[in-house]
Amino acid sequence: MEHSINYAKTQSARFEAELSTLLSIPSVSTDEANTADVQHCADWLREHLLSIGMESVQVIPTPGHPLVYAEHRSPNPDAPTILFYGHYDVQPVDPIDLWTTPPFSSTVRDGKVYARGATDDKGQVFVHIKAIESMLRHSPLPINIKLLIEGEEEIGSPNLGPFVEQRAQQLQCHAVVVSDTAMFAPGQPSLVVGLRGLAYVQIDVVGPNRDLHSGAYGGPVVNPLNALCDIIASMKDRGTGKIVIEGFYDSVRETTTQEKAEFDALGYQDSRLLADVQTNALGGENDRSTLEKLWSRPTLDVNGIGGGYQAPGAKTVLPSKAMAKVSMRLVPDQKSADVVELLKRHVARVTPPGVTVTVTDLHGANPVLVSREGKAMNAAAQALQETFEVPCVYQREGGSIPVVEMFSRILGVPTVLMGFGLSTENLHSPNEHFDLGNFHKGIEAAIRFYHHVAE
Ligand code: BES
Ligand code: ZN
Repeated sequence: MEHSINYAKTQSARFEAELSTLLSIPSVSTDEANTADVQHCADWLREHLLSIGMESVQVIPTPGHPLVYAEHRSPNPDAPTILFYGHYDVQPVDPIDLWTTPPFSSTVRDGKVYARGATDDKGQVFVHIKAIESMLRHSPLPINIKLLIEGEEEIGSPNLGPFVEQRAQQLQCHAVVVSDTAMFAPGQPSLVVGLRGLAYVQIDVVGPNRDLHSGAYGGPVVNPLNALCDIIASMKDRGTGKIVIEGFYDSVRETTTQEKAEFDALGYQDSRLLADVQTNALGGENDRSTLEKLWSRPTLDVNGIGGGYQAPGAKTVLPSKAMAKVSMRLVPDQKSADVVELLKRHVARVTPPGVTVTVTDLHGANPVLVSREGKAMNAAAQALQETFEVPCVYQREGGSIPVVEMFSRILGVPTVLMGFGLSTENLHSPNEHFDLGNFHKGIEAAIRFYHHVAE
């Protein structure tokens, strides 16, 4: 183990240079214009995994973007099998003019590498690839390793469920490890024990057959943008911050007193969030703490809205169409598909005459809780403590990683969510970056994890 860690230290400059190449590939999964780039990224990973000595390296086509798969077996017949999961696809870069340096030519400033995908998730995937390279250089692997790196996580992993079902045998393992989350704070590593799910819909409202003069037609003709705003406003109570879609909270598991106490024990201050996002007040449900709102309560948020005149200046127009993208973060025991049905029923009930509304289910993920017990979790806690020199904390996350619930449901194995990002690293936002100190510590921690889990 020490040899591998020392090797990684001597190779740090090369590791950073290789990461920079990976970050230069614009593997934006949601945009069809980038389909060839996503494929290129999968092919690059394949070549790279072959170059470090991985076996059975394959780029596996799916009806969408390809998966990258690789294995390496330990000579020890009793070695446990660990499945590493990560994603090489990234979010769109817009608004592009807010990037200080271009999103796909990575730049190091102040010990951080800036690029789309730096922290979410290419940088963290590369942590494990470099940990495995370092282990393969120095001794036989203490574990059997399987790598599954997907290209559709940021669009809800639409083809992964069927894949995991069909290949359940091949993917069999003792535990899964994922690095696609954040540490609790700089210098404070964490293991994530819960992720929220997601239901993401698009609402389209159509009214008159064409855009109209807002004076010549305004008044009697129902305005689709107004109707859309009314529909959205009808989903939440402004006083309490509660979502008022009928049945929405029916399957929400109440945060237990113990969970609340665990959240409180982390000593989180609202001032940290206010300072991070530079606003002067927080919203949401008025009877919940900030960590509860982020980790164990559902949300409903408009992610995008459009229709009518959007260019500078004024144009008097009554638009014929309006559109909104709405995401709902879900908590146990909500199911993504059920929540979409509830929303559709609500929309049908509140749609005014004069417009037609369609709700399209774009993608989803079910929420998941993972156990903090077990051999793999203990190995991860030990690895983090040895590397960061403080005990890790257990926390939940507000974001979603669809595969984690699938692994637990389909494979029945525990997942270790050991992230090296920071929540302030602008994931999904301009100027995404990854702290290079955490990149290198992550490699060390991953090497220790793979060794400890075999002990
Ligand atoms: N790495 C994130 C998940 C995450 C976000 C973990 C914040 C911890 C903190 C992941 O890549 C992601 O963004 N997932 C999507 C999934 C969705 C499209 C189904 C998300 O949460 O929006
Ligand atoms: Zn993401």
